[in-house]
Amino acid sequence: MTSLRVVGGQPLRGRVRVPGDKSVSHRALLLGALAEGVSIVRGLSPGDDVARTADAVRALGATVDGHQIHGGRNRLREPDRVLEVGNSGTTLRLTAGLCAGFDWLTVLAGDASIARRPMDRIAEPLRRMGARVDGRDGGRLPPLTVRGGGLESIDYDMPVASAQVKSAILLAGLSAEGETVVREPVPTRAHTEEMLAEAGADILVEEGDEEGAEDGADGGADGGRTIRLRPSSLHPFELDVPGDPSQAAFWVVAACIVPGSDLVVDDVYLGPARAGFLDVLAAMGADVERVGERSLRARHSPDLHGTKVGGDQIPGLIDEIPVLAVAAAVADGATTFAGAGELRVKESDRVATITSELCAFGVKVEPTDDGLVVHGGVLRGAEVRSHGDHRVAMAMAVAAMAADGDSIVGGWEAVATSYPGFEDDLRRCVGR
Ligand code: S3P
Repeated sequence: MTSLRVVGGQPLRGRVRVPGDKSVSHRALLLGALAEGVSIVRGLSPGDDVARTADAVRALGATVDGHQIHGGRNRLREPDRVLEVGNSGTTLRLTAGLCAGFDWLTVLAGDASIARRPMDRIAEPLRRMGARVDGRDGGRLPPLTVRGGGLESIDYDMPVASAQVKSAILLAGLSAEGETVVREPVPTRAHTEEMLAEAGADILVEEGDEEGAEDGADGGADGGRTIRLRPSSLHPFELDVPGDPSQAAFWVVAACIVPGSDLVVDDVYLGPARAGFLDVLAAMGADVERVGERSLRARHSPDLHGTKVGGDQIPGLIDEIPVLAVAAAVADGATTFAGAGELRVKESDRVATITSELCAFGVKVEPTDDGLVVHGGVLRGAEVRSHGDHRVAMAMAVAAMAADGDSIVGGWEAVATSYPGFEDDLRRCVGR
């Protein structure tokens, strides 16, 4: 186990560039594996999660060499080993969807955190399409086996607002007979649809009715979207992966809560269902502005106040709740996160881990069934733990930056999951 020592109160200044977006990177590898020819992808996320997807597509027969991904349906084959996804739920769920389209057996397994993450949400629709999916606890938990091929399309109303579930179904739908329809209750990140369209898939996205479905609109319930996909072969594509907004959120919040900070985060993807954290920070009174198309400037914001976050907002900021909770920890009054029960089934039970670690900094946090209430106060230097969760590790490093005195974040190695260069970037921002 490694730990990070943070000296509190050092202002963050200058510019920082975050790694390539993790969600886009996974999809670039999977779609590149399916595309007929050589795709060029620059700036993939350097984290272990994306390395796991690269490993999986290699095991399936694609070649990943530097910026080049050489794929094609005829190159792909039954993997001759278990696909080890490490800590990556996205690798597991999306690869399962892709493999469901092929008449072979795929076995997907991961670490202790993966072993308790729910897979019934993908197993159920993939079974309805005709794949045989099994796993521990009746197919609810990994390791997961998928025997695919001969799929029929489905018309699926997603019970959970999950981009991973949507993407697994769409990846399977590429190989299914007929039109696959996925209806999402609330819009989730749209990378799969955007990238499938780029690669020439026969895909149509109908935006939901903002006012709700009462007037009989067909496009999707309560502002959600409907995605229609026909079996398609993909052409190779070229892509520069944009910076990851979920990583940018750590620096933006850090700059807002450490006195004297003024920081620009460059080249951040701010597309659908990824920039919700900016709305919450604005509601809290944070001094954050967009600069040009894709940069964010954040300055110390001494008058942050509590707010309520919930409902349809949650899918667009679920990964940012750990660091938003840190902003809430220094804000005036209480901040409520509700309707966020998904926090309990992330890399750690984030309701529990955010609560315990922020409490160690001396903040009052009440866990609820579907979220948290954070009562703003003063952060005191503390010794905290990541619980093996990269976002908890980085959120606690941000809390430590704003705390009085020194702090230690144990289990720091977890950041390798998505942002191995976080510590170097921190040193650069605080000018050491
Ligand atoms: C992701 C979707 C989200 C998010 C995860 C990445 C994706 O998960 O929390 O970190 O790349 O599709 P859910 O689909 O489970 O909400």
